[in-house]
Amino acid sequence: MALHISTHPLVQHKMTLLRDQRTDPKKFRELLREIAVLITCEATSDLEAEETTVMTPLGQAQGHRLKERVGLVPILRAGLGMVEGIWNMMPNAEVWHIGLLRDEQTLEPVEYYNRLPVSPTVDVCLVLDPMLATGGSAIAGVNMLKRWGAKRIKFVGVIAAAEGARRLTTAHPDVPLYLAAVDKQLNEMGLIVPGLGDAGDRLFGTG
Ligand code: PRP
Repeated sequence: MALHISTHPLVQHKMTLLRDQRTDPKKFRELLREIAVLITCEATSDLEAEETTVMTPLGQAQGHRLKERVGLVPILRAGLGMVEGIWNMMPNAEVWHIGLLRDEQTLEPVEYYNRLPVSPTVDVCLVLDPMLATGGSAIAGVNMLKRWGAKRIKFVGVIAAAEGARRLTTAHPDVPLYLAAVDKQLNEMGLIVPGLGDAGDRLFGTG
């Protein structure tokens, strides 16, 4: 199973603060932005780059230029909290939003926003969602991208329930997962335990 869980001490340190119930929305947004950047560094380590040259003040140096077009695909709402930091790092990335909400009774994802153009405009899609609980939203998001014609898709998240991670890799074995933590349990309301609460609510102060 292509599941990558970051062991970086900075990620683990920031994750502990992110989980802490005393962390307020401003700090939560900051931590999520930073963790997203660190996880994305790991998720993008195999992007193709081509050789180029550059003039330094002292002469010509060999260099590299990113070759692949990257699409950031945040799943609304919580995925929005991961965009800014990653986008600062890859300013040429395109951002395509996908709106999915989880029906509170059935826990099934409901699609409510999709403005993807007719055919893919990027080489690699990074699906962004900090929470992978039952895995339903992530599977639905990847389904939408595959219907669109996306060939290379990676899931960049923060925290998953083991069951959700398993469901996603079973449904889409070609999509690697990059995460900061995997928790064992999912409670009867579909919340990750101990998790960090509802990321969307903590991010937007709506809890
Ligand atoms: C949460 C979360 C994920 C999804 C995970 O979103 O941000 O998108 O649930 O659950 P799943 O793996 O069981 O599908 P939610 O539907 O609460 O919407 P929100 O981000 O707008 O709060």
